[in-house]
Amino acid sequence: MEKYIIKGGRELSGEIKVKGAKNHALKVLAASILLKGEAEISNMPKINDIEQMQLILKDLGADIQQKQNSRLNISTDRINKIAIDKKLGSSLRASIILTGPMLARLREVILPHPGGCVIGKRPIDIFIDGFRSFGVEIKEKPNSYHFKAKKLQGCDYIFYKISVTGTETFMMAATLAKGKTVLKNAAQEPEILALANYLNNCGAKIRGAGTSTVIIEGVKELKAKNTVIIPDRIETGTFVVMGLLTNSMIKISNCNPSHLENFLLMIKRAGGKLEIGENFIKTMPNSEFTATDIITHEYPGFSTDLQAPFTLLMTQAKGASLIHEPIFEGRLFFTDKLNQMGANIIMCDPHRVIVNGPTKLFGKNVDSPDLRAGITLLLAGLIAKGKTTIGNVNHIERGYENITERLKKLGAEIYAK
Ligand code: EPU
Repeated sequence: MEKYIIKGGRELSGEIKVKGAKNHALKVLAASILLKGEAEISNMPKINDIEQMQLILKDLGADIQQKQNSRLNISTDRINKIAIDKKLGSSLRASIILTGPMLARLREVILPHPGGCVIGKRPIDIFIDGFRSFGVEIKEKPNSYHFKAKKLQGCDYIFYKISVTGTETFMMAATLAKGKTVLKNAAQEPEILALANYLNNCGAKIRGAGTSTVIIEGVKELKAKNTVIIPDRIETGTFVVMGLLTNSMIKISNCNPSHLENFLLMIKRAGGKLEIGENFIKTMPNSEFTATDIITHEYPGFSTDLQAPFTLLMTQAKGASLIHEPIFEGRLFFTDKLNQMGANIIMCDPHRVIVNGPTKLFGKNVDSPDLRAGITLLLAGLIAKGKTTIGNVNHIERGYENITERLKKLGAEIYAK
């Protein structure tokens, strides 16, 4: 699909089920390179990033069988290539995480510079620095990297900056490295804990995942086991904002609210009325929003991936909200598109904006710059007066499964063209 067309102003109702987490599923697919035998993975989201990752793995020699109900079977026993496909690898930032399992299994990997959307083209210095500590030799070419090691040697590594995929990549590499690895200042996201639990079930020895120090004792071999992808906390949060913005009572089910504590706290502080159960969240109509400042932070702080929807929510809140996004450069630039739709957002510098609200939004033609900004423009379209057309929706489809059909079922007037 290329465009979404939305007619704003509809109240939504009903239930929407959260899909499996993109940022867990991508890592479980990569981890399959470490495992002997066939694994069955359930609750796989059907999204573009997952398709891309599967294409990369198939190109390397993996055998992947898509089953019904978001299940797939994967065996990487016959992987025989060390070069990640240039076109596929460079179009997906998450291709970087393949380096860990590839080095652990084959001792060598050639990676094109990973890319994707605007924010996907971020540096990979942490990966280069960290792998050198494992004894890997790295040759940097203009558009690719050649990693090679005689053996992977367990090491003590401290991240100068917290990195989610960095933590996951080194954790996976360390499972089959020689000796003990200690990762300090590690990221603590729930997807990291879920990945470590899965690898431990396959025979790995990982302690401390989900805290800032992860200790891994290398083992000789890991055996494939079945696993289930955890619910997508970012999709969950996006739907929470959607329900509140559209003044609707919707039930967001199949989710894990305990992975969203900070976000839900800030939503409540902003005046959002919610009913929260063990595996569902209901949004309540008639919330009155008040300006609320946020600062994004690594888990368990306010997720950078939910900054864009929250910024949109603040356009409907009374007063001035400061949105501070220290993690990514460029993740606030989408606010000029909200301004085109009628918002009053002032950019202080690339990391901070002030949102003055409330403002009425009006339908416009806007392009999606990246995944989270894209879904936010879609949400803006749901409350805008008139017709909103969103281009570049391939960015949205990287992370949200069948979104137009799922929203139509709630009563949204949206179609893809
Ligand atoms: N960074 C470096 N050097 C590196 C790696 C990262 O400077 O070698 C910087 C980044 O530019 C950024 C910061 O470190 O400023 C943190 O980046 P991190 O490495 O934690 O991000 P990531 O692991 O590449 C994952 C998610 C992102 C999510 C971030 C932060 C995956 C596949 N991606 O990215 O998800 O925003 O953590 O939580 O897990 C998304 O789903 O929309 C998305 C972008």
